[in-house]
Order: sequence, then structure tokens, then C-alpha cells
Amino acid sequence: MTKTGWLILAGALGVATAQTQLRTLKGVVIQEPAGLGEYVQDRKALVALGKILFWDMQTGSDGMTACATCHFHAGADHRPQNQISDTSATFRVNLDLSGVAFPLRALSDSGNKNSAALRDSSMRIGSMGTFRRIFDGIVPGQAAELGHDELDKPEFVHGGLQVRRVTSRNTPSIFNTVFYGRGFWDGRAARNFNGFTVSGLAAEAPGVLVSVDGVLERRPVNLDPANLASQGVGPILDHLEMSYAGRTWPLLARKMLNLAPLGLQRVSPTDSVLGDMARADGPGLVDEATYLSLIQKAFHSKFWESPETVEEFTQVEHNFPLFWGLAMHAYQATLNSDDSPFDRFNEGDNGALTAQQQEGLRLFQTTGDCIECHNGPEFSAAAMNPNRGTRAHAFDRTGVRPAAEDIGAGNATFKSISLRNVEFTGPYFHNGGQATLEQVLDFYRRAGDFSPVANDLRPFSISNAQRDSMVAFLKALSDDRVRYERAPFDHPELCVPVGHLENEPDVLAPGDSVEFPTSAAEKYRLIPAVGSSGNMVPLRTFEEMLAGIGANGERAHSLAEHCSPGGSAARQVGLR
Ligand code: HEC
Ligand code: HEC
Repeated sequence: MTKTGWLILAGALGVATAQTQLRTLKGVVIQEPAGLGEYVQDRKALVALGKILFWDMQTGSDGMTACATCHFHAGADHRPQNQISDTSATFRVNLDLSGVAFPLRALSDSGNKNSAALRDSSMRIGSMGTFRRIFDGIVPGQAAELGHDELDKPEFVHGGLQVRRVTSRNTPSIFNTVFYGRGFWDGRAARNFNGFTVSGLAAEAPGVLVSVDGVLERRPVNLDPANLASQGVGPILDHLEMSYAGRTWPLLARKMLNLAPLGLQRVSPTDSVLGDMARADGPGLVDEATYLSLIQKAFHSKFWESPETVEEFTQVEHNFPLFWGLAMHAYQATLNSDDSPFDRFNEGDNGALTAQQQEGLRLFQTTGDCIECHNGPEFSAAAMNPNRGTRAHAFDRTGVRPAAEDIGAGNATFKSISLRNVEFTGPYFHNGGQATLEQVLDFYRRAGDFSPVANDLRPFSISNAQRDSMVAFLKALSDDRVRYERAPFDHPELCVPVGHLENEPDVLAPGDSVEFPTSAAEKYRLIPAVGSSGNMVPLRTFEEMLAGIGANGERAHSLAEHCSPGGSAARQVGLR
């Protein structure tokens, strides 16, 4: 069908409005938080600060966990081991995902949700964060903080040893998230940023310290729309994701201000944002690029110039959550993939989609009625309209799991998440319960999994060939710059934990750390630095990882190269 043909068809169904019509993401305005100029004097420097902090492993309490540790792969995570959590049942700790049967709920007739269940599991495929440890302080100049093990969560303890704790939801991609009104699967990250917490409520925030004629004053912060700033201040102090329990913002600030940015990680000299600052002969950035200088460049002086200390902390240390949140927002706001085959087709290149993909697009809009919830240029009803209004079906109930396991945004509703680059973001849904897009489509054609619990889906009937066309269309939402990690999706090196060592099956090996005697021994793999022209080979999909495809170097992020998080081995590994 021609482009004009499907537009008319969508219109004829009466579903498409200017806001909800599928169309290219190119040219969609990225709304800057109103009043940002009050704080920020150099937006480019802010993006650089955000990219550095997002990728810097030193930000985590253990000195080796960055935001990127769970968002390094097309903005998501496809690590293979110790990625399971389950609060309602026992599970095999540290299991390799290749040993997990997908979909997690399997039916004797995949087209009928009332058919007998062959298996059903409440486990979630999440992302591992930190060990459960209590914060005891920082040592200036050292990335690893002081702390001690605490064995309080049986979920992540096995044979007296603890593993890294795992999130109770699957990690979504951070790409194209600036368009959302609210962040997270349940929308709990507010659209307005209060400078301090996720919720946006002014009552929860102390405000920012402003220097007025040499005197420090506290002023409230309220920036909108800024869901990525609100979201960004969450994980960094969360003691499952990045932090030992009890760490505080000013101490995190003091630690970071005394460290070399990205001091353990190589940066490509052709990095689209950091290339000019990259150190040629080792990890990190040139000497002039300190955290303080980056903050001073990005923000107006009244937010950092005071020599005064308040309760033993400097103005910069106090204002660190504001700097952090706005930097995260600015960096992630650059990560938009608006050049997929679908975008090109919509712009008039009729050859950009194959005939099969065009058929998939038609089914996506008609029989499947996917556009009820995955609509607009973002392929998500949770995106803001230009007037910042919300769309119907932003959060919806699709019956992925019973409400008792996770109520999401209430009543088991979850974000109608964007489908851009979905090829690379498996496993799917908030529980990570489906490994392939074919499995996702089987789920939709039987109108979800949980019945008779009401959900907002209607069953539909398609042949397997039609299902394959829809999958082919979903893959036309991948941007090649994401597939090959080209600018702006290029990034510094990262050494990621990929699970724990076992002496024999199901017996964890103890680590050799004196400070943390009950932490299990770990394995680490390298995600190499990549510059603006990207990798030679495409990213490995989750499905390929399960099938062992690409270990021979034909896929990027095959997690074959070892590294050591302390940096010594990371330093020895050459740049690609
Ligand atoms: C331990 C793994 C982990 C780390 C570390 C982590 N995240 Fe996430 N991230 C997740 C998971 C899991 C979710 C989904 C949680 C939810 O919705 O309840 C998420 C959600 C998000 C979202 C929301 C996407 C959406 O669709 O709304 C953004 C943005 C994000 N993270 C950015 C960050 C930033 C910035 C940092 C560092 C400050 C960070 N993440 C650190 C695992 C992680
Ligand atoms: C009634 C609203 C609604 C409709 C209709 C709908 N979706 Fe969804 N979609 C959602 C919601 C909500 C989620 C997240 C559900 C969860 O994880 O619990 C989702 C998640 C997904 C995901 C997983 C993305 C990821 O990164 O994990 C895919 C893929 C997807 N939908 C494809 C489709 C396709 C294809 C159709 C049409 C056959 C469709 N959806 C129809 C609301 C909808």
C-alpha cells in the first residue's frame, strides 16, 4: 500500500489526530524546561557534564556502577546472568538467562489466553545494581566508598553469600524519553523537577542555594517539562541500583569533585561530545576537565561562586542534585532516534520499507489496533502533546501479570512505552517476560495473558505470515545510528558486572575482598569505547544473545572481552 493509502485508511478509522498519527520524529520539537536559562549558561557544557556523569562508573558507591551500567545497550540492558528478581517466589539466584524458558507464561495454545498454562512464572528479568551494603563514608580521591555488607534480603543471598541485587522491573531504553510527560513504567518521575527528588512535589525539596550579593539564600526550584531530571535524581541514591544505604547528596558531591571525570574509562578521541576532552594516552579526560570546571562552565556563577560553607558543605556540594538532574536531562534529551526506515518512508522515500514491512504497518494500524496506545511520532501515547497535554491510553492495562504482583501506575496499568528500536531492547514488558517480538505479538492476538481480569485489549486474528510482517515492521523502527552506536549514541568505555562465579553449579564462589567478606565473587566484561562513526558490526539483540549468535565478533556487545573494574585491565585494553 502506498503512503497516502495508509494515511487515508488510518483517518477513515477515525483514530488518527494530529497528535496521535504515526509520523516521522524528525522535526518534533524538544521542549526545553521553561526557565532553564535561569540556571544554565552553556547548554553544550551541560550535555557534556551529563554524558560524563551518566557513564562514570565512579558515581556508584562501589566505584564501579554508573547509570550506563544498566543502560549501555541501545539505552537498555541485555546482560545474561544474575538479572532475575522475584519477591513472591524463590528462584535460582545468579541463573544464566539462557537457562530460562521464554515466554515466562507459556500456553498450550498461544492464540488462546484461556488455554492451559504449560508454565507460569512471576519472576522479572531486571538489571543487577549494587550489593546490599551500609554506607560508612567517603575517602576523598577514592571512587569506592566505605561500607559494610548487610545480609538482610534473603532474595539475593545464597549459601551465606550475597549477589548484586536485581531490579523488580525490566530496564527500558533511555532513548527518546525526553518526549514522555512522566518517567518510569509507572510514571512516578514527575514532569516538573523540584531540584532534589523524583516526585516533583515542592514539599520534598530544600530548594537550591543561590548567592545574592554575597549572601546565600534558599530558593525553590520548579522546572517543567523535565521528567528526565526528576527521574535522574532517583537511582543515584537508591540502595538497590547505585548506592550503599545511607549515602547522602553532599557526600556524593564531595567524592565526585575530588575524582578525575571518567578516571577509569577510556574515551574515544572521536566521541561526538567528549572527543576534544579525551585523554590521548590513557583513561579519562584532559587535566583541565575537572568536575568543578565542568559545573562552572555549565551553570551561572550564583549557583557555585560562594566561598561560604553551610553545615560543613560548600554551595557546589549543596547544589549537586540540581546540577546532576539537569545534566542528566540535557544529555538524554540528545538521544533521539529519528532516522529509522519508518521515518524515511513517512518523509516520502517509498523504498525505505519493504512490501512486507508496509503490510506490517497496515496491520499495526488496523487489525492489531496497536496505534490506540503506540501512536504519534514517538510510538507512545505516554508522550506529551506540544501543548504538554496528555494523550488517552498513556498508561494502560494489558494484562501482562496479575495486579497483585505489580500494580504499576495503579490497577496494573503501565506506560504505553515507545516502540522505537524495540529490536534491541528485549526482553519485553515491565517483567521482561517475552524474549522475542513474535512472542509479544502472540500475546496481543490473544488479548493479553490474564483473564478474566479485565484489560484494555481485544483479541484479533492474524496468520503467522501476517504476524511476521508486523515483526518486520517493528524492526523498521530501528535507527542505524542506534544499531551501530554512531553519534549521538557513541559513548565511553564501560566495564560491567555480568554475574557471579560459581565453584560448581548453584554454589557461589566467595569474593576475595576483606571489607566485604559476604559478597560473592564476580565476572566483568568490557563494553569498548566507541567514537562518532560507530562500530563495524551491529549490536547484538537479546534473542541473539540467548541463541549464542555473534560471539565470534559479528555483533557488538557480545560481552566476550574481560575487564577489571578497578581500571588496571580496562586501561590495558586498546580502543577499537
Ligand atoms: C541497576 C540498574 C539501573 C541503574 C544503575 C539505572 N537504571 Fe535507569 N532504569 C532501570 C530500571 C529497572 C528502570 C525501570 C524502573 C521502573 O520503571 O520502575 C529504569 C528506568 C529509567 C528511565 C525511565 C525510562 C522510561 O521509559 O520512563 C530513565 C530515563 C533512566 N532509567 C535513567 C537512568 C539514569 C539517569 C540513571 C543514573 C542516575 C539510571 N537510570 C540508573 C535500571 C537502572
Ligand atoms: C491498550 C493499549 C495498548 C495496545 C492496544 C497495544 N499496546 Fe503494546 N504496550 C502497551 C503497554 C501498557 C505496554 C507495557 C505493558 C507492560 O509492560 O506491562 C506495552 C508494551 C509493548 C511492547 C514491549 C516494549 C518493551 O520495550 O518492552 C511491545 C513490543 C508492544 N507493546 C507492541 C505492541 C503491538 C505490536 C501492538 C498491536 C498488536 C500493541 N503493542 C498494542 C499498551 C498497548
